[in-house]
Amino acid sequence: MAPSPEGVSVVLGAQWGDEGKGKLVDILAAEADICARCAGGNNAGHTIVVKNAKGEKTTYAFNLLPSGLINPTVTAFIGSGVVVHVPSLFNELDTLERKGLKVSDRLFISDRAHLVMGFHQIVDGLKEIELGGSSIGTTKKGIGPAYSSKASRSGLRVHHLYDPSFPAKFRKLVEGRFKRYGHFEFDTEGEIEMYLAFAERLRPYIVDGPTYMHKALQSGKRILVEGANALMLDIDYGTYPFVTSSATSIGGVVTGLGIPPFAIKKVVGVIKAYTTRVGGGPFPTEQFDTIGETLQEVGAEYGTVTGRRRRCGWLDLVVMKYSTMINGYTSLNLTKLDVLDGFEEIKVATGYKIDGVEIDGFPADLDRLVRVEVQYTTLPGWKTDISGFTQYDQLPENAKKYIKFIEDYLNVKVQYVGVGPGREQNLILF
Ligand code: GDP
Ligand code: IMO
Ligand code: MG
Repeated sequence: MAPSPEGVSVVLGAQWGDEGKGKLVDILAAEADICARCAGGNNAGHTIVVKNAKGEKTTYAFNLLPSGLINPTVTAFIGSGVVVHVPSLFNELDTLERKGLKVSDRLFISDRAHLVMGFHQIVDGLKEIELGGSSIGTTKKGIGPAYSSKASRSGLRVHHLYDPSFPAKFRKLVEGRFKRYGHFEFDTEGEIEMYLAFAERLRPYIVDGPTYMHKALQSGKRILVEGANALMLDIDYGTYPFVTSSATSIGGVVTGLGIPPFAIKKVVGVIKAYTTRVGGGPFPTEQFDTIGETLQEVGAEYGTVTGRRRRCGWLDLVVMKYSTMINGYTSLNLTKLDVLDGFEEIKVATGYKIDGVEIDGFPADLDRLVRVEVQYTTLPGWKTDISGFTQYDQLPENAKKYIKFIEDYLNVKVQYVGVGPGREQNLILF
């Protein structure tokens, strides 16, 4: 197959999520025909702030639908690797349409995507209770249990909704969950009926996923992939088991969309100028004092999906080196640089030691990870409000040095710099 010259551009979260992927996707979608999600579900929360000609702001929050939809000429595609909670999908679609964004005529969903059912969401909560003090802190959207059904080969996919055996398969799945978790309150027959009603509404959106992508590539469509979650939440490469249940890395783009790897031309890693994490799990550069509080307040670090306070800390370049090694970023989007405006000094993690010995890579074993002594490099702050700047040249020297330090450490160029939540608060370096 001859690849399309335009090929596929990918935006991926490089840390623990909420780096500002949605904002970049919205900006890049102006040059795209299709915006696709390849993995995850409505555990993602992508915020976009758009100003109109009068300066009035509208905030959009995307969960399952791709953020590129704000651009009215973009078609959205939900790939085979995504897990879809159909009621939430329509809820999101209706909310966007109420805001005046017509999306229902430019959305396609792969027939191979797995369904998230109400019982998956209940089980998500039960599993967390069972884990007690070592719970993951999931979004309780049923993501892990839905991917578990998929991996155990008993899951239901979008095409199964139109199969006469759907009710029987559904009942069997629920029975299995009752055996594992005891009998919980769940209206099996009511949910089957609800799904069969949704099936009719869903029908016009369904396509043969891999064929859709193949034809899009063949006809030279410009495809933008919106990563969800982030590399450090990847099922294989994240801080397992404190991860989500899908491949959030570059590999998930290939498997989740059913495209050949050589179709991918550009991979932008989105990196927040500091680090945040929602939920449980290790976080070596987390700051528990006023530094953490300042980052949290200035950065307005509250989860888009659950409203939870995000844990905050300094930028961790050990994490970023690991992330870059796996995803092979062709460039970076450094976001929320404005949040560091008030700091006299800024620390950056540049190494980990265990028992006084510098380690290579990022530890797989969390017992080792919690023992790392983080090695910091301190850089001078710039004490200047950069949120109104529109050009790289306007940035203070110390902000430029901060960017250069990151580029030199990772050997990847920063292509975009975020200086505020607004679409226009984005510096393009090349
Ligand atoms: P995503 O999940 O990666 O799309 O990120 P979220 O939308 O969950 O979280 C990022 C938050 O930071 C959102 O509230 C954005 O509006 C906001 N944001 C994005 N870029 C910037 C930036 O450069 N500066 C500031 N101050 N806020 C930003
Ligand atoms: P976006 O796309 C931040 C975290 C949850 C939890 C763990 C597992 O907005 O960056 P799950 O519900 O997926 O089983 O939860 O993963 N998590 C995220 N954290 N941003 C996200 O998405 C996340 N998606 C999942 O907090 O710790
Ligand atoms: Mg988010």
